[in-house]
Amino acid sequence: MTPLAARLAARIRANGPLGVDAFMNAAVADPEFGYYAARDPLGASGDFITAPEISQVFGELIGLWCVALWQRLGEPPVVRLVEFGPGRGTLLADALRAIESTAAGCARAVRPVLIEISPHLRALQAAALATSPAAPLATWHDRFADVADGPALIIANEFFDALPVCQFVRCGDGWRERCVGLDAAGQRFVFVEGGPVPSPMPDDGEGLAAEGAIVERCPAGEDLAAAIAARVVQAGGAALIIDYGHPHLHPGDTVQAVRRHRFAEVLDRPGEADLSHHVDFGALAAAARAAGAAVFGPIPQGLFLGRLGIAERGEALSRAQRQRQPEIAAAIRRLIDPRRMGVLFKALAITPPDIGTPPGFAAASARRPAER
Ligand SMILES: C[S@@+](CC[C@H](N)C(=O)[O-])C[C@H]1O[C@@H](n2cnc3c(N)ncnc32)[C@H](O)[C@@H]1O
Repeated sequence: MTPLAARLAARIRANGPLGVDAFMNAAVADPEFGYYAARDPLGASGDFITAPEISQVFGELIGLWCVALWQRLGEPPVVRLVEFGPGRGTLLADALRAIESTAAGCARAVRPVLIEISPHLRALQAAALATSPAAPLATWHDRFADVADGPALIIANEFFDALPVCQFVRCGDGWRERCVGLDAAGQRFVFVEGGPVPSPMPDDGEGLAAEGAIVERCPAGEDLAAAIAARVVQAGGAALIIDYGHPHLHPGDTVQAVRRHRFAEVLDRPGEADLSHHVDFGALAAAARAAGAAVFGPIPQGLFLGRLGIAERGEALSRAQRQRQPEIAAAIRRLIDPRRMGVLFKALAITPPDIGTPPGFAAASARRPAER
């Protein structure tokens, strides 16, 4: 057993089965043995690769999106550029470079704020930002609540999928929480049914959830979407959430473990594989709307990046670096191809109700259901 597995097994022996959310939270974020505590999981030599690591164009386009939003906000002299879970800091470094080369006023206003629990990744992020003039103004926090007041442009790429989910199973006699216990020998983690719970679905799952169906909710994600919305409504700002997931709640067990670019068993060796889930964008949108914000999307990542001009930017980069042209074109295809990251990944924006449609999001409004 891994040290974290031994600790979780002891908790189960003492107090009974753990909710899937508690298991996932420990596996991902335990400060001592959690997956992110002491490793760099990103890139070809790690466990998985993310959009900013595939192409610099991804972060640059997000930087330009931030410039446009800063202008919509009336060009405040100070704006926090908050990134949740910045990984290696690649997206933020690329975004800052694009901001610095296109909008000097915005570059002067920006204060980078990094929400990161991993000391190891914090050090990589500081190194990635080192050449930016904004680097001396950068601050790191564990929690959003600690970020200083004032207007904020907020980015989260592949962050919400790492937040813990609760799972529920529809049984013959109603809904029960899905939990993690130990097998008869006390050696392996297994899924078990917990006590009865109220329906996790708005309509009790009629017609959607047959007996045996599993439904997920992510209270941590919904609370965070509400806090982000409250912040941008009160202090000014905008948020861009990009992740993989569904536009609406529907039944299914989406928790997955990835290790060395392959799927692994979810309950085996907690802390040694990346656990994540498919984000329910409908739930995030509902939480943000309830806090008074306008919500745009979710729309497919390929559509969003296409509207921001990824093809033109890729061509400009290829002209400047001719020998890298095939590699640049392949990276951009990977980001926008519907069979790769173009559709599974989606973009959602949260803004104050009165600043109009953000770039990349067409024909959405505060009251409409999520764009498909
Ligand atoms: C999948 S990586 C994404 C990295 C980066 N955004 C990218 O696109 O390359 C998840 C990031 O979120 C951080 N993280 C995970 N759970 C967190 C939490 N509860 N609070 C703050 N950061 C967290 C990880 O350390 C890591 O930086």
